Amino acid sequence: QALSILREFEEKCGTPISKLKQVADAMTVEMHAGVASEGGSKLKMIISYIDNLPTGDEKGLFYALDLGGTNFRVLRVHLGGKEHRVVKQEFEEVSIPPHLMTGSSDALFDFIASALAKFVATESDGLHFSPDRQREMGFTFSFPVRQTSISSGTLIKWTKGFSIEMIRLILVGQDVVGELTKAMERVGLDMRVTALVNDTIGTLAGGRYHNPDVVAAVILGTGTNAAYVERAHAIPKWHGLLQFYLNRGTCMEWGNFRSSHLPLTEYDEALDAESLNPGEQISEKIISGMYLGEIVRRVLCRMAEEAAFFWRYCSSKTKNSLYTKVCLYCFHRTPHTSAMYHDTSPDLKIVATKLKDILELLKMRKVIVELCDIVASRGARLSAAGIVGILKKTGRDAVKDGEKQKSVVSLDGGLYEHYTKFRTCMEDTLVEVLGDVSNNIVIEHSNDGSGIGAALLAASHSQYTEADE
Ligand code: BG6
Ligand code: GLC
Repeated sequence: QALSILREFEEKCGTPISKLKQVADAMTVEMHAGVASEGGSKLKMIISYIDNLPTGDEKGLFYALDLGGTNFRVLRVHLGGKEHRVVKQEFEEVSIPPHLMTGSSDALFDFIASALAKFVATESDGLHFSPDRQREMGFTFSFPVRQTSISSGTLIKWTKGFSIEMIRLILVGQDVVGELTKAMERVGLDMRVTALVNDTIGTLAGGRYHNPDVVAAVILGTGTNAAYVERAHAIPKWHGLLQFYLNRGTCMEWGNFRSSHLPLTEYDEALDAESLNPGEQISEKIISGMYLGEIVRRVLCRMAEEAAFFWRYCSSKTKNSLYTKVCLYCFHRTPHTSAMYHDTSPDLKIVATKLKDILELLKMRKVIVELCDIVASRGARLSAAGIVGILKKTGRDAVKDGEKQKSVVSLDGGLYEHYTKFRTCMEDTLVEVLGDVSNNIVIEHSNDGSGIGAALLAASHSQYTEADE
């Protein structure tokens, strides 16, 4: 009976090419609607204030602060212009104490500002700033933000469970840069945010710095999202603002994409209903690392209840653990599911270790691995369909007049980086859907993350001109 639950789930998660094409088409339609008018689509299609992506000419010492992925990071990047590129790059990763997630926004930003101040104090190698020059920084804030300028914007809503807890922080609707600046002042740090970006825009900028053919960026991590360069004439909601009539980095917030073509199951619906943001981020909840393990857990619970699958073999401690959400919590943060999926030992020893006494029988271990496979493949294939949607929107999904137009997509995030099979499945699916055109599409891991992109954008939006150097 456990197997019939598995097969039924597999069928409902099916993503044949025909479905993926429908999803890609629906994504393109929503993208058009989102750029046509504010609130015209589930996709926010946030037009950034980034018109000049990095050129390689950027010079000087810049900082970046990256908040919203698995870790909060501070970076220092020494840029040497065209000739020397990135001369030196240092970073530090800091985890945010859980009590700060539910405290006040002041407490959270004070913590961030203090960590930043400590990092700044480690500046060395003669890279000190002259006293009359302010340090400048790019701030990657990986949540939906309504930008009001290159260096200001208000939080629309929290996404990704761990941050939704922060809703009590009252930051929604407030200028995130303003809050950070006040906190920096409180800890006596004289620093200026010259660019505020989403992680997708940061990744787009970082990718473009290394490769001029980069046209889009995708994050597959705790959450998922994408950004691409939109042609100015294709942004009706910005018409009339002629001074802004330039191509723009556009952040889609595709985690909130929804379509009747998405293969949703009752487990996804239950997960959504019990989540902290029901009805929102539906794609994110079937694609990203934050949720994949939870879907697996839910199917296992059903097997346990209805099919007495392993139930009679396991202790009450194990039963409780299966019912506890953290058991298979996250595919890459506590990478149990990923490790199980990659278990190639004949008796699936890793699966056994991960689930401890749950799985004494090899037959059960095999079922679990297959379950992980179904959930991860659906996510990987749907993210490939999303990329096809972007290529369609930008007219890069076909070879025109024999012309070979190369399109590079920068990818980042823990799910993509650490879950090899997810990555391979996504890349293979692109080839499957695009056929020959896939020869012109390159997927590149953006090694430096979006942090370096933010530092580059801080440099290109510096308050100082070269003459000040
Ligand atoms: C990092 C980027 O590499 O990936 C972050 O620097 C991004 O900006 C993050 O948010 C996303 O991945 P994860 O797995 O940390 O959520
Ligand atoms: C969530 C956020 C989005 C971010 C993505 C990846 O979807 O809403 O802004 O880019 O996670 O971190």
